[in-house]
Amino acid sequence: MSARILAGKEFAAQLKAEAAQRVKALQDKYGVTPGLAVVLVGDDPASQVYVRNKDRACAEVGIHAERINLPADTPLEELLAVIDRLNADASIHGILVQLPLPAQIAAHEGEVINRISPDKDVDGFHPVSVGRLVTGESGLLPCTPAGCLRMLELAGIPVDGKRAVVVGRSNIVGKPMAMLLLRKNATVTICHSHTQDLASITREADILVAAIGKPNFITADMVKPGATVIDVGINRIAPKKLVGDVDFAAVSEVAGAITPVPGGVGLLTVAMLMENVVQAAEQQLAAK
Ligand code: GUN
Repeated sequence: MSARILAGKEFAAQLKAEAAQRVKALQDKYGVTPGLAVVLVGDDPASQVYVRNKDRACAEVGIHAERINLPADTPLEELLAVIDRLNADASIHGILVQLPLPAQIAAHEGEVINRISPDKDVDGFHPVSVGRLVTGESGLLPCTPAGCLRMLELAGIPVDGKRAVVVGRSNIVGKPMAMLLLRKNATVTICHSHTQDLASITREADILVAAIGKPNFITADMVKPGATVIDVGINRIAPKKLVGDVDFAAVSEVAGAITPVPGGVGLLTVAMLMENVVQAAEQQLAAK
């Protein structure tokens, strides 16, 4: 049996088309184009690719993109001053500081994220956004997990009452993913590097999310036949070879549905960011 391949491209196209319509509606109603500021500190090659993809998606959807490139040795105070300026800029509705930050300010990541106005926190990383996610209040949701949930919805894969297992407990993916699945009434287990007998837990999953950061870590024997497998990993194993956290060839023989890498959830992350910028703009404009 071969699994259904959940191609990110078609789902991302749907999300971006919806976002583009909402951009038009804002232009008609307020004469305002939603604006996203992307701050890139330093020249990490992977970050440059991600930021370019975000710029491209903004152009597709009709969002105004402002790119701010800062040198790798930018002092913390200068980065915070840039965020303050963007917080006060009415033409900017969303602010994203690309992570990881360079070594000399990486230790201050929390301070940087906390400085972004929660209203403009289109990454959903601010503690206020995290709090809203946990309590179920409406707010801006982290793009990768929210994109995964939207994909399940668009693919018609039920979540309510299902067993979901998330492998990985990062603040960017694992933890918010588990919270979103819980909000959709899944029974959720979070596993991590200290989990004992991991395979016995992952084999119970109707929905298995891999957010580990280790190439081909999830093998076929760890997957229940017919399960939906979402691979959030992006691992570069050779200059031009990306693989996920899931052994795609073997697991796609066991799973019912699976996301490929590349071409899977990465595209949804960017599409979800567009939706977040539009949502932030709608809320800021309605509050005026
Ligand atoms: N680096 C890797 N993923 C992300 C993300 O979702 N947002 C930001 N800001 N940086 C990242």
